[in-house]
Amino acid sequence: MSYPYQIKSLEQYREDWKESIENPEAFWGNIGQHFQWKKPWESVLEWNFKEPSVKWFNGAQLNITENCIDRHLKDKANQPAIIWEPNDPNDHHRMLTYAQLHLKVNQFAHVLKNNGVKKGDRVCLYMGMIPELAIAVLACARVGAIHSVIFGGFSAQSISDRLQDAKSEFIITCDGAFRGAKDIALKNVIDDALISCPFVKRVIVYTHTRSAVSMIKGRDVWWEDEVRKVETAGNPDFPAETMDAEDPLFILYTSGSTGKPKGVVHSCAGYMVYTNYTFLNVFQYQPQEVHFCTADIGWITGHSYIIYGPLSAGGTSLMFEGIPTFPDAGRFWDIIDKFKVNILYTAPTAIRSLMAFGLGPLQNKDLSSLRVLGTVGEPINEEAWHWYDEHIGKKKCPIVDTWWQTETGGVLISNLAGITPSKPSYATLPMPGVNPVLVDEKGNEILENNVTGNLCIKSPWPATIRTTYGDHERCRTNYFATYENLYFTGDGAYRDENGYYRITGRVDDVLNVSGHRIGTAEVENAINMHAGVVESAVVGYPHDVKGQGIYAYVIYNGTHGDEQMIRKDISATVSRIIGPIAKPDKIQLVSGLPKTRSGKIMRRILRKIAEGDIENLGDVSTLLDPTVVNEIKTGRI
Ligand code: WT7
Repeated sequence: MSYPYQIKSLEQYREDWKESIENPEAFWGNIGQHFQWKKPWESVLEWNFKEPSVKWFNGAQLNITENCIDRHLKDKANQPAIIWEPNDPNDHHRMLTYAQLHLKVNQFAHVLKNNGVKKGDRVCLYMGMIPELAIAVLACARVGAIHSVIFGGFSAQSISDRLQDAKSEFIITCDGAFRGAKDIALKNVIDDALISCPFVKRVIVYTHTRSAVSMIKGRDVWWEDEVRKVETAGNPDFPAETMDAEDPLFILYTSGSTGKPKGVVHSCAGYMVYTNYTFLNVFQYQPQEVHFCTADIGWITGHSYIIYGPLSAGGTSLMFEGIPTFPDAGRFWDIIDKFKVNILYTAPTAIRSLMAFGLGPLQNKDLSSLRVLGTVGEPINEEAWHWYDEHIGKKKCPIVDTWWQTETGGVLISNLAGITPSKPSYATLPMPGVNPVLVDEKGNEILENNVTGNLCIKSPWPATIRTTYGDHERCRTNYFATYENLYFTGDGAYRDENGYYRITGRVDDVLNVSGHRIGTAEVENAINMHAGVVESAVVGYPHDVKGQGIYAYVIYNGTHGDEQMIRKDISATVSRIIGPIAKPDKIQLVSGLPKTRSGKIMRRILRKIAEGDIENLGDVSTLLDPTVVNEIKTGRI
């Protein structure tokens, strides 16, 4: 069996792209035929970017889990749906066939229902990278609950903010997670988060690390006990809830330029069709292939290309619990060798960190099963691109550089593996259905090539963000109000003479640290929580491995300890408020910040100093106190 809607040539790509833009209804209506619906749609697309209101396959009814699991049972019951490699290579890996996945998702859907979860309820998932996380995600979708996965690196405070924003009354977690040499006590973090969330009714706890947890009577239950009850009842199938095409499927929080993360909402039908279509076309996935996406399910990449894309295509998705450097820097290569991985999809930061170990860890690793390589999350520098091409792909595997965002649900700009040309550091061409434009500061469209501009999208694709949870106006102002009738990505891009796009990075106050999106305002708020901190300003600077590092300038008037200790205290505060992923790489204590007479911090200057470009600071005469610049320059870390 092959996939009927895979693009097979550059000419076909050009034709499909043209058709998809001229007649999106016909184009996506055709793709939509390949899914299982409970009721057909009345219209393929209705939209306006003013409100915004975007509706795909409106009137249709479906359940995404029937498309990701049930419909594959006829031919693929015994094919692995999920292969799981544990953190410790000496532990056993696990394999879940489609039949086993079906059983487990149905069981856990019953567990959710037995614990009071209903259609439309928000369920928060805070787990490590274990198959039960995928099972819980799918079980939520099966009962029609809205999942909100929170990455394991977020703090109790971040969790409690998200629980309150989504009003989640249900949590699924585990005792702990393994990450490299670390054992992270997830349930303890949940317990801390719940001190300020008394509305949470139920916490379901899966045993993974078997570390001590406190189970609170009436609130906390063990996953295993709950599943046993369903087994005793004879494991009945759980009839998949009927969902409207535009019912929300999940919320995923992401950072913007304000201090508060926003809950990006995706809906059932469009997201399903788009993740499936992009999975099959970008990677050119072939039946039976093993797809290894190294992202965490706590981010959009894991949602779309570990779970929904591969499973809706009846593929085999490899999930890895650990980190690329544990027990050594050859771990990815061992996994590829062990499971004969065909597609490796990872982040430039991982490639750069592995590059630093040289070629030793690659010795005696058989990577010949690889057919396609992919990158995502941040711009890839040419050096890393060539290393990936030469040493991992052995110059035989196309590299897809996939540009997209939490808000876009799936890949928007990328070459198609082996079908459309690649160009190092370029995401290249838009997917069918995607109409990118570059605009200048005033919002005028730039029509010529060899130009840079702000990257916008002209019309909706099926996995367009629908709203920001609980605050539609925020969705409008953030994405649809900067430029009239355009979706604004927040990224800058260059377009070359062939029309290929090269993403140059964020043009707003959002940082991309190791592929993790962090708002400068968010980090500043966290630093300012520390007693003794008067004010702070956070900027990004180029970092060899992480892509961007976090540089914090802090005015401190406390008395507690020497400078080094104060820095540690500030770091600990950020870790406590946001999570370890947001800890600044550098903290410089300063007596003042460069401000204009109207009190605005001149970040341009701080950015230049952090970058080390201290000779070209430009005009500083408009500053309230220009002398502060010299002090900051001298004290640079
Ligand atoms: C931001 C979105 C999309 C999943 C992972 C990140 C940057 C993403 C690329 C790429 C250059 C990229 C952009 C974007 N980005 N992919 N291939 N080349 N930059 O999702 O956390 O929502 O972050 O990541 O700046 O806006 P996210």
